Amino acid sequence: MQKRPIPIILDVDTGIDDAFALLLAAKHPDLNLLGVSCVDGNCPLDQVVANTMLVLDAAGRADVPVAAGAARPLVAEPNYALAVHGEDGLGNINWPKSTRKPVDQFAVEFLRDLILGHPEKVTLIPVAPLTNIALLLTEYPEVIANIEKLVIMGGSAGLGNATALAEFNIWHDPEAAQIVFSADIPTVMYGLDVFYDVHIGELQLTNLKNSELPAAKLAGEIGEFIAGILGYPITIGDAGAVCAVIDPAGLELETYPTAVITDKGPARGMTVVDRRPYRDTVENERALPDARDVAVALKVDSERYAKLWLQTITS
Ligand code: BDR
Ligand code: CA
Repeated sequence: MQKRPIPIILDVDTGIDDAFALLLAAKHPDLNLLGVSCVDGNCPLDQVVANTMLVLDAAGRADVPVAAGAARPLVAEPNYALAVHGEDGLGNINWPKSTRKPVDQFAVEFLRDLILGHPEKVTLIPVAPLTNIALLLTEYPEVIANIEKLVIMGGSAGLGNATALAEFNIWHDPEAAQIVFSADIPTVMYGLDVFYDVHIGELQLTNLKNSELPAAKLAGEIGEFIAGILGYPITIGDAGAVCAVIDPAGLELETYPTAVITDKGPARGMTVVDRRPYRDTVENERALPDARDVAVALKVDSERYAKLWLQTITS
């Protein structure tokens, strides 16, 4: 019997690896991409929206609605990542811009309507700072009943990238992340413990770039840009969180109490994962405050996810 496609929504700050995630989500037959919400992060919001529509158009999915959301974090000042993603957030490749417009609705209400209007529970895949999702859960908590799970690209059990301790998406808006991580929704954290492990090599990128297919060609061009900065092989980045929905068996998850640090200071934006073996017995008087159980991705079948991504975007 054929599986029904899984209804999903992506929240993005497109961004090169957000583009990789969008291409996979837009093209994979097991997914039903209901819509995409945008938030500032890798680049300013207007650019995120333009990039998101450009990518969906390249995937042949101009039918997928796109909404603009928060233009800045809840409390912090914005901090963009243009040094990695390019001045336009998408590798400065001069790809033709989309001629369509985002929907005439703020992303938070757009998300509410999509989630409540769908007959099945919807899986949310935020691969960006969590500002839109925090606003959604705060203003419209009734959506929680129709969310299957959150699969978040963000955080880690050990590594940082924006700072020594904090991952970019969480660090960009820690107050929002704290709201989302403490919500009563099953949550998978596809964080830096696995994020860098799914590789695409130079030859594969060249083949993508030379493809006749717009989705593959776009991936090859922006992938080459980031390789020029970070070197080969590149990682599929945010697209791994989409792989985790299509093929959850490719990940090893362990559930631990997890909290977000919002204090000013060197740990701001860190996700603290309590992996102590006896935390529930002798050490529970020193439990992490405000922690909630999160399924943390600690290992990924890299070849399996790289193949899934490559095969889908070249199909
Ligand atoms: C995350 O930050 C952004 O640069 C990427 O798009 C990804 O979502 C990695 O820390
Ligand atoms: Ca992102």
